Amino acid sequence: MNDDPILYEKTDGGVAWVTLNRPQVLNAINMRMRDALWETMLAVRDDPDVRAVIFRGAGERAFSAGADISEFGTAPSYAEARRARRQRDLWGLMLSLDKVLIAAVHGYALGAGVELPLCCDIRIASEDARLGLPEVSLGYIPSAGGTQTLPRHAPRGIALQMILTGDPIDARTAHRYGLVQRVVPRERLYPEAEALARKVARHPALATRLAKRAVVEGIELPLAHGLALEARLAALALASPEARAGLRAAVEGQ
Ligand code: COA
Repeated sequence: MNDDPILYEKTDGGVAWVTLNRPQVLNAINMRMRDALWETMLAVRDDPDVRAVIFRGAGERAFSAGADISEFGTAPSYAEARRARRQRDLWGLMLSLDKVLIAAVHGYALGAGVELPLCCDIRIASEDARLGLPEVSLGYIPSAGGTQTLPRHAPRGIALQMILTGDPIDARTAHRYGLVQRVVPRERLYPEAEALARKVARHPALATRLAKRAVVEGIELPLAHGLALEARLAALALASPEARAGLRAAVEGQ
């Protein structure tokens, strides 16, 4: 059995799979896994062949039960941990990628195990998924971006309810709140994620990149600035050979 904490597999069609691979501890994210994820995300960033990435958890029980609590006492000093985080801002790197990131979530997705999917663009959950942020009940707060990403996906009151109670929610509830975009039976989870990734990866690369950028950067801006950003990016897209070919084909097909 491969005991690498992260399995990375490129397939044809521009799709890559990233598997959190510590099923014996519900894919808890330890420092080794975090380092491997960092390296993998750099590889994804720099590989023009990879257009879409699907994240999943190994084993039957969990996407990930969050940060590895067995390392809490052994972690470096607070200052050291902060320095390491600044140097290797994994969540910031994920949020800055211009590839399409899809999380395929099953079983437990707790703490960083739900914050990682929240750094993705699209989340698909299987019916058995349970998503929660237990950090406050343990005496600290989510720190893989969750206090910022969750209220940008779910309504503010729901985000606060999840963060302040620590109670997990099931897949259907997560869907109702907008945290996940689709709920499917467990056996359909990876085929659905793959079909979605392949569809996205088939579209012209530049248009996909620019459209993602318009949404992700624009949502942080006042509307007028967001519209100006969209206009700039649309001009870039329109000037591309892909757009000219695509529009010509559409006109000829009429
Ligand atoms: N870090 C390290 N190990 C973890 C872990 C984590 N976050 N979550 C689960 N594990 C390990 C358990 O220690 C156990 O290991 P063992 O078999 O060597 O004892 C194994 O994974 C299976 O977990 P277990 O607790 O026996 O399963 P369960 O079905 O009884 O409970 C959970 C499942 C998810 C409810 C429970 O494991 C849990 O609460 N985990 C911690 C979740 C958490 O607080 N995450 C946020 C950290 S910030």
